Amino acid sequence: MTRIAVIGLGAMGARMARRLLDAGHELTVYNRTPARAEALVAAGARRADTPKDAAAGAEVVLTMLTDDDVARRVWLDPETGIATSIPEGAVALECSTVTPGWIRSLHDALSARGVALVDAPVAGSRPQAEAGQLIFMVGGPAPTVERVRPILSVMGGAIHHAGDLGAGAWLKLAVNSLFGIQVAALGELLGLLSKAGIPPDKAMAVLGEVPVTSPAAKGIGGLIVAGRHAPLFPIDLVEKDFRYALLAGRDVGAELPAVEAGRRIYARAQEAGHGDANISGVAKLYLA
Ligand SMILES: NC(=O)c1ccc[n+]([C@@H]2O[C@H](COP(=O)([O-])OP(=O)(O)OC[C@H]3O[C@@H](n4cnc5c(N)ncnc54)[C@H](OP(=O)(O)O)[C@@H]3O)[C@@H](O)[C@H]2O)c1
Repeated sequence: MTRIAVIGLGAMGARMARRLLDAGHELTVYNRTPARAEALVAAGARRADTPKDAAAGAEVVLTMLTDDDVARRVWLDPETGIATSIPEGAVALECSTVTPGWIRSLHDALSARGVALVDAPVAGSRPQAEAGQLIFMVGGPAPTVERVRPILSVMGGAIHHAGDLGAGAWLKLAVNSLFGIQVAALGELLGLLSKAGIPPDKAMAVLGEVPVTSPAAKGIGGLIVAGRHAPLFPIDLVEKDFRYALLAGRDVGAELPAVEAGRRIYARAQEAGHGDANISGVAKLYLA
């Protein structure tokens, strides 16, 4: 069993931490809002007061945080950051959805301390995190990835080692862009069909059966029809991922017109007050 620190106990991190605890790992947890750690502490995890405190003595440090800015603060703050205490020889596991640029910066900061980094963002949402059925997209040196594979297996049903450091972050941004573009198109086309006299339930009965509709889009279509937009993958995070795909694309000179359009659509949904809603809530732009 491994001494693991999990930092960031939001919707995803808390569920991932619970899987690790239930599998018998020795878990230390930190969250900015301490109340979110209570259930894990009651179940046997040790509570830390700072990221620095959580990482001290850990063999693996896993973070599941909002974005680059939050991750930078939590890893690199000179007073409380993980990098001030993570032991030489430990493995850093960045599971947040972040830019490849941040992964490079984190690698530079940690390699100076003799700490290996693996980027391992996930596809799947709260139900998959709870069931240990996330899909990990992993970047990093093979020996380090193999070291953490048994830990990732506790949280994921599939672990794809996609390449060198940063490969996970690149793939994750591509996956979410592909998902977000499909859902935005579905929302707008259900709006079109509704105006043409075909209500969303009738439309989805057909769209859900044709092969051009992905299983993920079909699932979201069901939520749109039911008007159920309780957050699983909130629009605020969807917009962030599009923004990060564009930023990363600029770094390598890629042309991303569909991603650019997707970002604008989700930004409009945020401006309309739907930032907290599930990704399916983008359809509210087009349906009464
Ligand atoms: N939700 C999904 O379906 C999903 C799926 C795959 C990947 N992801 C990615 O996974 C990551 C986490 O997502 P989530 O849904 O778990 O988000 P979340 O519920 O909003 O959790 C965010 C975490 O970041 C912490 N945080 C935010 N600002 C902070 C700050 N300034 N200092 C320290 N900690 C801070 C939060 O702490 P507090 O509790 O104190 O706010 C919380 O632990 C994101 O990168 C997201 O894009 C999400």
